[in-house]
Amino acid sequence: MTIMLNVLLVYFSGTGITRYYASLICEEMNKRGYNCDTYDLEELTDISTLWQKRPVALNYTIKAEVERPLSNYPWPYMKLENALLDRIESPILDDVVQYWSSYDLIGFGSPVYSFRPAPVMIRFLLDLPYFNKAVRTFSFATHDGAQGDYEAFMKNVLTAKGLKYIGHIGQSFIYSATAIMREKFDHVKTGRLLLRKSENARRDINIFLEYVHSQYFGIPYWYKGTNLIDKIFGIPYRLFYSYGIDLILNHFLFGYGIHKEDCIQCMTCVNQCPQGLIEVDKEDYPIRYYHCMYCLRCLNWCPTNALYFSKLTSRKARFPGPEVLLEAVSQIDYETSKKSKP
Ligand SMILES: Cc1cc2nc3c(=O)[nH]c(=O)nc-3n(C[C@H](O)[C@H](O)[C@H](O)COP(=O)(O)O)c2cc1C
Ligand code: SF4
Ligand code: SF4
Repeated sequence: MTIMLNVLLVYFSGTGITRYYASLICEEMNKRGYNCDTYDLEELTDISTLWQKRPVALNYTIKAEVERPLSNYPWPYMKLENALLDRIESPILDDVVQYWSSYDLIGFGSPVYSFRPAPVMIRFLLDLPYFNKAVRTFSFATHDGAQGDYEAFMKNVLTAKGLKYIGHIGQSFIYSATAIMREKFDHVKTGRLLLRKSENARRDINIFLEYVHSQYFGIPYWYKGTNLIDKIFGIPYRLFYSYGIDLILNHFLFGYGIHKEDCIQCMTCVNQCPQGLIEVDKEDYPIRYYHCMYCLRCLNWCPTNALYFSKLTSRKARFPGPEVLLEAVSQIDYETSKKSKP
């Protein structure tokens, strides 16, 4: 029996992987005859203003501020524990919620940053007004192997907003975050890996959609999702992340630097920062006075590779986004097929 569902996917994506994942989820839903709309937080909401009004920071940002302050200005970061109690509802979002309530299912997605959703997504979720209609909702994430508290966090926040949380789906695609520390980032090889992982993702999405389907018919369906796998295989990752993440972030990420001689003052980094944290100095060069969530977009998107965080990320490879990788693969496949033709 087919059912027609009206689905909305709301997401934040730092460097494009989560956006790509949302597009795969939509494609698989479309194949089942569902209508699927997407809502990129940055396109429809002034996410940086929303976040800057009451900035919530994960532990690693607070540590960065303590260990390597970038300026003398005190920044009123709010710790996550405090932010959770700070559930002021925002009248600007009332209309949005009214409109969203017409959907049958809403999915919220983000990259995993230090076991949780990105701080801009956290701020947005906390600011969402209470839903008077218990619309079904799920969470989705992209990550590098350890989702940690992401699902539990989403479940708690979305349930507290009056939504009916039905589950979570997550996918690890490619280690895009480490590109900024590598000498070379092979576009074709990584593009092929992305394609392989996309097949896994589609399979898991369909398992999840079977479960979603059962939710509307009351048929019992055992959905293990990625949670069990994450619990078992996530333990070493989790240990690695909890001890290793400090080391990695501290040495590779914390900080801000610019090779002024390479900067063409295009303002891409200033305009692209989802937290609106990059300003311009007296000479019109970009500068960041505060630690951020390290979404890596400014580094990756800078056309001249002028930016770096720590010295170890200076003049290193960059991650161009999933579309560029897939384009590189199709280009090489096209050239190979041309050569092999008699
Ligand atoms: C600051 C930072 C923290 C991260 N923390 C985690 C983590 O705790 N667990 C994990 O599995 N992946 C972690 N990652 C990897 C991202 O979740 C992964 O690269 C994600 O797919 C990026 O999605 P995007 O391209 O939509 O931004 C982290 C990445 C960054 C930049
Ligand atoms: S994106 Fe790069 S080149 Fe453009 S202003 Fe920023 S640092 Fe300079
Ligand atoms: S400064 Fe760069 S890495 Fe930090 S949040 Fe902004 S775009 Fe992302």
